[in-house]
Amino acid sequence: MSMYLSHGWLPMPLILGAGTAVPMNLSYALQLDRDVATEWWRRGRGMLWFQHLRRGGGTSLCNLLRHALVHGEFVEERSEACQPEEWKLRDASVVSGHNLTTLATELRLLGGNAFSQEYGALPSRELLARGAARRSMRRWVFVTNIRDPWSRFWSQLRHEMAPCLSTVQALAVCVAGQHQRLGPWWSPTSHIDSVLGVSGFRISASPHIYSDNYYTRMLLNRTDLNGPPLTEHDYEVAKSILFQRMSAVIVVEDFARSALQLACTLGLNLEAARPLLFTQIRPYQEHEAMMDIPTESELGVQDVTAVRLRFIERNRFDYGLYHEAKKLSEIRVAKCARQNPDVAALRAAPMVQEVKKAPEPVVASLDDIFGCTNGSLEVGPDGSYVLYCPRTSEQASRSWWSPLGSHKRRAGQKVPGEHCWREGFKWGFCCDHRYGPYGNKDCHVVSCGLLTGSLPRFC
Ligand SMILES: *[C@@H]1O[C@H](CO)[C@@H](O)[C@H](O)[C@H]1NC(C)=O
Ligand SMILES: *[C@@H]1O[C@H](CO)[C@@H](O)[C@H](O)[C@H]1NC(C)=O
Ligand SMILES: *[C@@H]1O[C@H](CO)[C@@H](O)[C@H](O)[C@H]1NC(C)=O
Ligand SMILES: *[C@@H]1O[C@H](CO)[C@@H](O)[C@H](O)[C@H]1NC(C)=O
Repeated sequence: MSMYLSHGWLPMPLILGAGTAVPMNLSYALQLDRDVATEWWRRGRGMLWFQHLRRGGGTSLCNLLRHALVHGEFVEERSEACQPEEWKLRDASVVSGHNLTTLATELRLLGGNAFSQEYGALPSRELLARGAARRSMRRWVFVTNIRDPWSRFWSQLRHEMAPCLSTVQALAVCVAGQHQRLGPWWSPTSHIDSVLGVSGFRISASPHIYSDNYYTRMLLNRTDLNGPPLTEHDYEVAKSILFQRMSAVIVVEDFARSALQLACTLGLNLEAARPLLFTQIRPYQEHEAMMDIPTESELGVQDVTAVRLRFIERNRFDYGLYHEAKKLSEIRVAKCARQNPDVAALRAAPMVQEVKKAPEPVVASLDDIFGCTNGSLEVGPDGSYVLYCPRTSEQASRSWWSPLGSHKRRAGQKVPGEHCWREGFKWGFCCDHRYGPYGNKDCHVVSCGLLTGSLPRFC
């Protein structure tokens, strides 16, 4: 356990001099970067990038990291699913102008050293770069979650893309990534922005990302489905990043045990972790209850199997990563248990099969999802769903459900006109590009009463 702590100082300058090319093979180089980053983390001076792979148990992992990770400081105020408010439903890297130094600075200014990237990829270019760009990443430790690819996909369809499950043909269309053929392909209780991220800050232009080696593409930042196809070499690189650079890859099916890896890498408060290890948080459970979604057997087991086989074939890189992750997780946890008797005891604890109730409701109702009061979902005259979402401007400004434009800010720069936005209005809501250069007239009158006529100064 004290392997890293026994170093007198960080090994980094001894191994890679400024500007030199990577002198050794990639996987070894990444491993060294991880060791340096781990050392920073253990001294309380590192940063944590939690790559939240969607619909793969990331919410449970977020909860564990928030409460039990030693040295972890997530921004708590107004954050959600481990993402600071302004990065919610957005690629954090894009929000920070593609500059990871800015990202780190902003995170620090918000009072944190850890965040989750859910709607964007891993910064693979920097992680794989030679010289200074790669060394600048050595303040960052990485953690991610992984789940059986088909289970992940199916769960995502159930919760976010229910039209894909209306028939086996629709399912095949979504596996092939031709969602637009279905018309609105997202669930009535979902939104294109909650599936892909807010326009301009999206994970990818197309939901096809989720059915074509999503894990591999996230690790490599190869989210453009029209780009060159993934190769075996890409797969090897993704594998190196996942297993050499990441501090832990938590296998969701074996969450309680797999997460113990953290105890021997970044440090886990096992007392705080114990109850959380056996808690599975399912933020979207209520959506499911609101819709009548067929199960695999209702769609026809044989037909679904044929589509599933096609999915497995297409997603072979993701399956490779997943199987490898399961194997390595077992090995790493066993090794950790040999070093730490408390880990050994938890590892041997009987598995609780039951899904426990989340300690706090993450998403509960239509009102919570869309930010309304007495919202309802009704079938319109043409058979499509219509969402009625009565809400105040305050609710609207807080809700993700409105493709708010977000302007670039410099690191640490305050939200423009912060003092002006009283009575629930906010810059993001009032100055959305949709309203033109003068902002939203209603905000103008209500929130900037004394400053009538001067709104453009703030937008
Ligand atoms: C990379 O380096 C490690 C450590 O030196 C070694 O074990 C591994 O076999 C090397 N891999 C390749 C492909 O050369
Ligand atoms: C990133 O931002 C930092 C300041 O936050 C700046 O010093 C640096 O030059 C920027 N890097 C690039 C590539 O723009
Ligand atoms: C992923 O790559 C795109 C360009 O291809 C870049 O703009 C974006 O910042 C990258 N994302 C991360 C997290 O590095
Ligand atoms: C919401 O609905 C409930 C029950 O129908 C009603 O009592 C309440 O007044 C409604 N609230 C608003 C703000 O309309």
